[in-house]
Amino acid sequence: MAATDAPGAAAGAPIERAFTLPSRLYTEPDVLEAEKVRIFGRTWQLAARTADLARPGDFVPVELVGEPLVVVRALDGELRAFYNVCRHRAGQVALSRGNRKSLQCRYHGWTYGLDGTLRAAPEMDATEGFDTADFGLEAIRVEAWGPFVFVCLDPDAPALLEMMDSIPTEVAAAGFDVAAMTLVERRDYLVECNWKVYVDNYLEGYHIPIAHPALFRELDYDAYRVDTFRYHSRSHAPIRELRDGEELGRDRRYVRSADGEEDALYYWLFPNVMFNIYPDNMSMNLVLPLSAERTLTIFEWYFAQPGTGPGWESMQQTVAFSDQIQHEDIEICEQVQRGLRSRSYDRGRFSARRENGVHHFQSLVTEFLG
Ligand code: FES
Ligand SMILES: [Fe+2]
Repeated sequence: MAATDAPGAAAGAPIERAFTLPSRLYTEPDVLEAEKVRIFGRTWQLAARTADLARPGDFVPVELVGEPLVVVRALDGELRAFYNVCRHRAGQVALSRGNRKSLQCRYHGWTYGLDGTLRAAPEMDATEGFDTADFGLEAIRVEAWGPFVFVCLDPDAPALLEMMDSIPTEVAAAGFDVAAMTLVERRDYLVECNWKVYVDNYLEGYHIPIAHPALFRELDYDAYRVDTFRYHSRSHAPIRELRDGEELGRDRRYVRSADGEEDALYYWLFPNVMFNIYPDNMSMNLVLPLSAERTLTIFEWYFAQPGTGPGWESMQQTVAFSDQIQHEDIEICEQVQRGLRSRSYDRGRFSARRENGVHHFQSLVTEFLG
């Protein structure tokens, strides 16, 4: 019996019996096209930052896995989002960020209000049955959480806060004011792998002893665990305290205050965004497929009081720490992608002790792909 025909390989099989996703899901362009519709088209996608949409009239064009979109702060103060596609002959109504009372297509000048209505369409008076009311910009859903603006192309998907489930209340209950945090640094990393290779890797600590020896020294590996929920998971990766005889700077590089570490929250939200929240800062990782075997990962660091206070040093440390780990992960992910292309490999098995987060993600992928 081939591995893919094994009874335990069925979608939704428990981790003890499950197989990993077949390798073609990580290599074939057709699969990514299906994922754009069924996964990225049906979930909340982080598209912009509230800081870029603070004033009425602010607008930000966004490309979401191939779909041109525009997010605006309308004149009534509400966030709105539309397909960035003119209803005439499909020009784009916003080419760069800006602040305006209306959006004008750069092709023939049709002009739309920030509520999406078509306000002016020159020389259309001789066109029979043409009513501007029928040709407004097509609206999409938009919601904000903290400093982030999300959009969703699916009118039937659950609301953002419903999909985020306990994340916002846990974050608020822990006393973190994420809405007040400011973007300080952004780094983009190009990774030659399928986007799911990167997400799989993020969702387990199983590789830490081998792939991240420096990180392994810092962590309480036995206490590392991942809790899974409907559309998100939460990792517990406590940094261990100094042992007797260990010296900061010699044996250990990254020791944070015991307070901060106990309180750190690490979230992944299906399908492609992670939030790592500390008392004085937060990092966000966004995973964007560029093609079936190429992925852009965006790291952003937000800080409660940029440029002030003792947190500044820990911020620099956090950025350097993430950067080192990220380079180790990129190397692993690119190796894995080459392995997935091998004719010798199709599916593997999970460590039922250590890879429940990966199994959870792959089960959601299977569910959404149908
Ligand atoms: S395509 Fe936009 S005005 Fe013609
Ligand atoms: Fe890693």
